[in-house]
Amino acid sequence: MNDCRIFQRALRRLRFGVVNGAPVESVGILGSGIMAGGIAEVVARADMRAILRARSEASATASLKGVEKGLARQVEKGKLEPAERDRILANISTTTDLGALGQCDLLIESVVEDLETKQQLFREFDAVTKPTAMLATNTSTLPVVEMAKVVKNPERVCGIHFFNPAQVLPLVEIVRPITASDETISRAADFVSKIGKEGVHVLDRAGFIVNALLFPYLNNAVRMLEDGTASMADIDTAMKGGCNFPMGPFALLDLVGLDTTLSILDTLHASFGDDNFAPRPMLRQLVEKGRLGRKTKAGFYEY
Ligand SMILES: NC(=O)c1ccc[n+]([C@@H]2O[C@H](COP(=O)([O-])OP(=O)(O)OC[C@H]3O[C@@H](n4cnc5c(N)ncnc54)[C@H](O)[C@@H]3O)[C@@H](O)[C@H]2O)c1
Repeated sequence: MNDCRIFQRALRRLRFGVVNGAPVESVGILGSGIMAGGIAEVVARADMRAILRARSEASATASLKGVEKGLARQVEKGKLEPAERDRILANISTTTDLGALGQCDLLIESVVEDLETKQQLFREFDAVTKPTAMLATNTSTLPVVEMAKVVKNPERVCGIHFFNPAQVLPLVEIVRPITASDETISRAADFVSKIGKEGVHVLDRAGFIVNALLFPYLNNAVRMLEDGTASMADIDTAMKGGCNFPMGPFALLDLVGLDTTLSILDTLHASFGDDNFAPRPMLRQLVEKGRLGRKTKAGFYEY
């Protein structure tokens, strides 16, 4: 390396301060919803310690049970050896205490898609984490920089955005807010490759790559249903058969969660001002009725 590059690197380290390049060995995952258990499983499979933190014992246990159930199904189908299942489960523990994540190398928050809630969690991270820990959000659309700016060392914050179900889908978006250091992004990319996922790099813009393209499509499927152009079942069948998609838009909306969808569309609409992102009234009505999709056993479809 020539003198100039050494100097630039040193300058960058000075500017970005505390983050070093240590590999990730233990990961704290915050949340107990659709995504958190799947992320814990992915981490545990890659032989890192996963500590799942929920607000109550009951939801922490329910999350772990969800992982156990998924693994048991794979053992039944002959896709996973019982010894491998035991190894994965041995790598996962649960807690309700944020302080228990103090020694983790990486924290990934995956709680409700609400900026204030996430910012509060990042403030709490500041108090409990070691200074070299990386802090990541699994937000679908919120600006990562808004979370970075509430911590003392914003250079260690980035987005690590999984897809649903996290234990199945291969993609992870590595989101770079303007505050992130090169070291943080490179450690995030190392982590993503260690968990066997395909990482793509994207700047901190609402919806990143996938959701910025996907959600106008989902929203327009709801518009088509409202207009009476076709039935829900026929729209789903059409998009599966015509585009070779694994599921139609209504099945996907129910899988994502209609409350999460509403938050994502609101953020995209506020950010881009494009009417394709303005959430359709039918979506709001279903959320108001508490029909949030698979997680409440009713959304567009009944489960
Ligand atoms: N559902 C998806 O398809 C999907 C995909 C990728 C990313 N995400 C993102 O992952 C995150 C979690 O989504 P999800 O689908 O798992 O949500 P979910 O609705 O299934 O779960 C939300 C979680 O947030 C917790 N929570 C709610 N209020 C809280 C508070 N005030 N403080 C702390 N925790 C609180 C709940 O207890 C629950 O564990 C969101 O940011 C979402 O945008 C979701």
